[in-house]
Amino acid sequence: MKILKYINEVLGVPTGIDKLISQAEVIDHEGRKAVKKVFTREIGIIKWLPPTLLFRPVYPFTFDPRERFRRELNFMNLGSQVVWRTFSTPAVLSADEGSLTIIREFIDGSLIDYGRDADLLASALAEVHSKNYVLGDVKPTNFVVYDGTLYIIDAEQAVESSSVEHRAWDLALNAFFMSYIELWDVQKYKNLMRRFLKKYLASGGSTEPVKNITSIKLSSISLLMPLPHLVVLVRIIEELL
Ligand SMILES: Nc1ncnc2c1ncn2[C@@H]1O[C@H](COP(=O)(O)OP(=O)(O)O)[C@@H](O)[C@H]1O
Ligand SMILES: [Mg+2]
Repeated sequence: MKILKYINEVLGVPTGIDKLISQAEVIDHEGRKAVKKVFTREIGIIKWLPPTLLFRPVYPFTFDPRERFRRELNFMNLGSQVVWRTFSTPAVLSADEGSLTIIREFIDGSLIDYGRDADLLASALAEVHSKNYVLGDVKPTNFVVYDGTLYIIDAEQAVESSSVEHRAWDLALNAFFMSYIELWDVQKYKNLMRRFLKKYLASGGSTEPVKNITSIKLSSISLLMPLPHLVVLVRIIEELL
């Protein structure tokens, strides 16, 4: 992924940065590859403390391990009640409330590539939102694509909500990540965001959250974007609505 390569080159941080800050590990479970996630690992608490403090006014982030365990399990088990049409989640193989551990199916795909998978992500987010859920953490390492299907593999901040602001948060955070993936090419960012937002709207996403991506309330995230990208984003939203 370009941004990780950039971090590596400029800051000298290892490219496997997400591995260093992960609570998840690949294990063998009854002869099959699975992923074990332990929510009590300190790293999960450290990782979620700053977003919880900084962004809580706009999204109900939590760093509490039990609550993150509950959110992830709930979202990953929703598949038995809700029929997701545009994406999938890994099957939960076991969950232990005592040790706050979830073992789930390993999805042997590749991490999302915005150039290739922006449409998949847009329709998945539109569906999550239209069924009154929000994800909160839409960073690219939380999505895996296998055989043309998008899997949401991390849902520890997902909650039930029909708030326009929470939906706008998902879109704004995604716009933020896309801006750094296309840091050196504003034109590419423009095309990517236009395609993403068009697909979100065409897949049943409503206009209100799109309108609110660059609202003052979400400026804590949009002002962290490179300025040329932010200007382009504002123009695209005007153009689409
Ligand atoms: N079910 C899965 N199938 C394949 N890879 C996974 C799965 N769950 C997690 N991973 C990999 O592990 C990484 C970290 O998992 P994640 O659930 O996002 O934990 P954390 O939030 O601690 O980073 C992901 O970015 C992905 O590369
Ligand atoms: Mg993650």
